[in-house]
Amino acid sequence: MKLLPEHIAAAENCIRPFFERDHSGHDWDHIQRVRRTALFLCKEEGCSDELTVDLIALLHDVGDDKLYSSQEEAQSALQSVLQQIQLDDEYLKFILEAVQCISYSGGCTQKQIPIEAAIVRDADRLDAMGAIGIARAFTYGGAIGSRFHDEKIQVRHEMTKEAYRTEKSTVINHFHEKLLKLKDLMLTDSGKKAANHRHKYMEEFVKQFLKEWGDPHETADSGKH
Ligand code: ADP
Ligand code: NI
Repeated sequence: MKLLPEHIAAAENCIRPFFERDHSGHDWDHIQRVRRTALFLCKEEGCSDELTVDLIALLHDVGDDKLYSSQEEAQSALQSVLQQIQLDDEYLKFILEAVQCISYSGGCTQKQIPIEAAIVRDADRLDAMGAIGIARAFTYGGAIGSRFHDEKIQVRHEMTKEAYRTEKSTVINHFHEKLLKLKDLMLTDSGKKAANHRHKYMEEFVKQFLKEWGDPHETADSGKH
C-alpha cells in the first residue's frame, strides 16, 4: 500500500496527547527528535521510503510496556492507533513488527530487522547519547530519585530487565551500564558515524564529572589553578 502524509497526520493526532503528558524521558520532544534523526539517517542510507521511516519513528514508543500500567494495555495501545490510521493488513503487520523491533530489550535479531526499523532503532539510541543523552539521563535519574554518583554502588554488568527497571543505581553508573555501550550496537553506517561523536562527548563528560567529584578545586574549563 502507498502510505500518504494523511496517514502520518492521523497517527500524530492520535498519539500526541499521550506523549505530551509523559515526563519519563519519552515525551513528545523525544519523539520529534527521533523522527528528525531517523529522516536524516534515511537520506544518508539511501533508503527511499521516508514516510514509512517517519511512521515507525512516530510510533516507536507506543505500546512500550514501561509506559503503560499493564502489558495488555500496552499491546492494545499500539493496535488501536494502527486501526485508527487505517492501513491495509499486510502493511499493518509490517509496521507492527517494525515497532516491536525497536526497544533496547526488544525482539528482533540484527539479520531480521528491516532497514526502516534499523534506522529508527539507531535514531532512538542516538537520542540516549551525547549532550541530549546526558540531559535525559539526569532528568530520568531525578524523576526516580537516583543520586548522581556513589562510589560504593557497583556498576552492574549483567542484569535482567526487572533489575534494570527496579534496582537502585546512580546516574553515573547508568553511563557504564547502558549509554557507553550504545555505540557498538548501532546497525547502520551513518548511525555508527553519528554515534562516535556522541560517544566521545559522553566519555569526556564522565571523565570530567569524576575529576570534579574527587577534586573540589577542579574547574570545568581549565583543571588548573
Ligand atoms: P529506552 O526506551 O530507550 O530503552 P529507557 O526507558 O530505558 O529507554 O530510558 C529513557 C531515557 O532515560 C534514556 O535516555 C535513558 O538513558 C534514561 N534512563 C533510563 N534508565 C535510567 C537510569 N536508571 N538512570 C538514568 N537514566 C536512565
Ligand atoms: Ni524512544
